[in-house]
Amino acid sequence: MLGIESSCDETGVALVDAGAAPTVPRLLAHALHSQVQMHQAYGGVVPELASRDHIRRVLPLTHEVLQQAGRQLADVDAVAFTRGPGLAGALLVGAGVACALGAALERPVLGVHHLEGHLLSPFLSADPPQFPFVALLVSGGHTQLMRVDGVGRYQLLGETIDDAAGEAFDKSAKLLGLGYPGGPALSRLAQQGDAAAFALPRPLLHSGDLDFSFAGLKTAVLTQARKLGDQLDARKADLAAATEAAIVEVLLKKSLAALKATGLRRLVVAGGVGANRRLRAQLDAACVQRGVRVHYPELALCTDNGAMIALAGAMRIQAGVEQARAEYAFDVKPRWPLEELQGA
Ligand code: KG4
Ligand code: ZN
Repeated sequence: MLGIESSCDETGVALVDAGAAPTVPRLLAHALHSQVQMHQAYGGVVPELASRDHIRRVLPLTHEVLQQAGRQLADVDAVAFTRGPGLAGALLVGAGVACALGAALERPVLGVHHLEGHLLSPFLSADPPQFPFVALLVSGGHTQLMRVDGVGRYQLLGETIDDAAGEAFDKSAKLLGLGYPGGPALSRLAQQGDAAAFALPRPLLHSGDLDFSFAGLKTAVLTQARKLGDQLDARKADLAAATEAAIVEVLLKKSLAALKATGLRRLVVAGGVGANRRLRAQLDAACVQRGVRVHYPELALCTDNGAMIALAGAMRIQAGVEQARAEYAFDVKPRWPLEELQGA
């Protein structure tokens, strides 16, 4: 299965060897081009530039992947692409190329949900999970807790009512002059800071449900930064540490609450923010204490990539919830709630 990801600012292509269930698909090769540098000058993703860059990158990356795997285009049995959610123009590039390849090779194609890719990505790790589990999905655009009973069987337990966790990282980082996307930079700076130096809000921490709200945090960071004035530079690491601690504490407490509410003893963390070290350390410690197993994707597969798309496509076919089709008229779904997916 060839997988193509182009929903936002990363072009990802990968090849997985699917085999028959219950064998977990195996990653043969993957290649990625990040547009981060290109968008940095604008402080965020410029959709039109993203689409054009996907066009430039997707075929060279496909050749690179085939070469790495020692395979030919003719060896590809099926092509999976990200159908949504994401930027419409960017999605259309991956969908168009996938369907063109499918038509030319006379192989079936399959549109995959980007978040299902993230959700299933830990299955490619050395320590794959087993169903059922609670999933904490934390990316630049989404923050959700789900109950996952199998491929396509997703129940939303709670989600953010405003900004996503990754957005909170990125917006706070921008306020601190750390560029775009600032999550990793803020996290690096935070390692040299004192998280207790500032008391930042933990929105909805005690709301009694599993929803999140992060919009107020950036305002609190901005207020604190203004208060510091000339001192900001000297205290930047402390403020970064306090920001990270606030986001991580909410994600941790709500994840534990979701485990308690469902009675499940397995947690899967996926999406870009899942690469955050403080989050991983705190989740690991809390879950060990509670006898809960935590699974993460490999670090390289935390952020957007083609491997998770090839994997999700392969797992959907293995589970019998969907078939790849030799139909090459395509559409994309820029907005597409995960719960709309059909399950087994
Ligand atoms: O899953 P992803 O690559 O893209 C989306 O589907 O949105 O997630 C990107 C998000 C960005 O907001 C980025 O700042 C955040 O993940 N991120 C991090 C870290 N690495 C990536 N946030 C905090 N700490 C990190 N180490
Ligand atoms: Zn993503």
